[in-house]
Amino acid sequence: MEKLLIQGGNRLEGDVRISGAKNAVLPILAATLLGDSASRICNVPHLRDVTTMNRLLGQLGASLTVDEKMNIEVDPTTVNSTIAPYDLVKTMRASILVLGPLLARYGFAEVSLPGGCAIGARPVNLHIDGLRAMKAEIVVEEGYIKARAKRLRGARIFMDMVSVTGTENLLMAATLADGVTVIENAAREPEVVDLADYLSRMGARIEGAGTDTITVEGVERLRGCEHTVLPDRIEAGTFLVGAAMTGGRVRCVDVAPASMDAVLAKLREAGAELTISDSMVALEMDGARPRPVDIHTAPHPGFPTDMQAQFMAMNSIADGTSTLVETIFENRYMHVQEMQRMGADIRLEGNTAIVSGVESITGAPVMATDLRASAGLILMALVARGETVVDRVYHIDRGYERIEEKLSQLGARIQRLS
Ligand code: UD1
Repeated sequence: MEKLLIQGGNRLEGDVRISGAKNAVLPILAATLLGDSASRICNVPHLRDVTTMNRLLGQLGASLTVDEKMNIEVDPTTVNSTIAPYDLVKTMRASILVLGPLLARYGFAEVSLPGGCAIGARPVNLHIDGLRAMKAEIVVEEGYIKARAKRLRGARIFMDMVSVTGTENLLMAATLADGVTVIENAAREPEVVDLADYLSRMGARIEGAGTDTITVEGVERLRGCEHTVLPDRIEAGTFLVGAAMTGGRVRCVDVAPASMDAVLAKLREAGAELTISDSMVALEMDGARPRPVDIHTAPHPGFPTDMQAQFMAMNSIADGTSTLVETIFENRYMHVQEMQRMGADIRLEGNTAIVSGVESITGAPVMATDLRASAGLILMALVARGETVVDRVYHIDRGYERIEEKLSQLGARIQRLS
């Protein structure tokens, strides 16, 4: 199993290009199934989750061509199956995103239930209830969601909780439904907006993406088109936190700063000086120790849960005490034990973490437990005294493109061990 070996102590300095967003490309690849012709998706990040989604599309019968720049052409006209099997879905929950498109376009879908997940229960009831409201017949048996609908019907759907992939599934399904669908309490994440932009380019009629009410007027057909994926705000945020923790200076290029307001505000609060343009964010820390920042995760435009572990890493070495409250996932503190093993002073009370910053932490062998937890541990290792080995890096490869190469370019001492 691959590991990352990191020697702490170097400042991060330099430029880093940010890749396309994992959480945008996955629904967009699923949405290619809705078209009557091929789509070309550009700025696709090279990630394990993207490979999994491509395998899933291939298994459904879609024809995929990947060029040397990782642009992916998906031709859905060869699709000959509507089954998303357990062995793929279990490795990536986001496989559930093919449910809405398959049902809307082909009238059938069988998608394995994703099952438990390291960061909490993560049910899919909102996806199922919303599709039922659109007159899909759905049974859950033998571990599969089995759905059918001759043609989905527009409906008014109020989502009990804000769900990102839930909103995306219903949005995709609604594009080909008969009549108007209104999704209330919809997720407002930038990745939902990017998906809506792609669908609109395919011919969908969507209003309100990026607000909590999305209205979709169903159309008879959608055509394939070209789309460039939005930059990854979580990847950019991770490098910026790394710069802040190491007292360095990093310029993230090819980013979408407008999608990062909550994170940028917290970095300023931590003492970072930021320079922002249309597609660039530069952070300057000038050797200073970060100030502690309180965090309360919330759906967009609130502070993203996907940045919680990284900010916990920063708070661990900050000059004072901070409080983090995780409101989205009930079990997203598994990195805490590993951070404690590196010398962090963190106390958990329910979904609240109280972090007392320490002056220095030490390297240790640690275990990555999920994608963003691993990012937090790598950031800790960058400032730790001595050597850290992060085990189970396959978690990080799910969502960060060539992280060790990008960090090395910025001056970190990091290498992959096979
Ligand atoms: C997406 C992101 C993930 C991010 C999360 C929250 C993708 C591929 N993944 O995950 O990186 O951490 O949003 O920003 O975009 N819930 C239900 N019933 C449902 C669906 C969700 O109760 O049917 C609950 C979940 O358990 C969780 C909350 O709603 O507590 C939010 O989950 P959701 O937004 O659905 O997360 P994902 O879309 O899976």
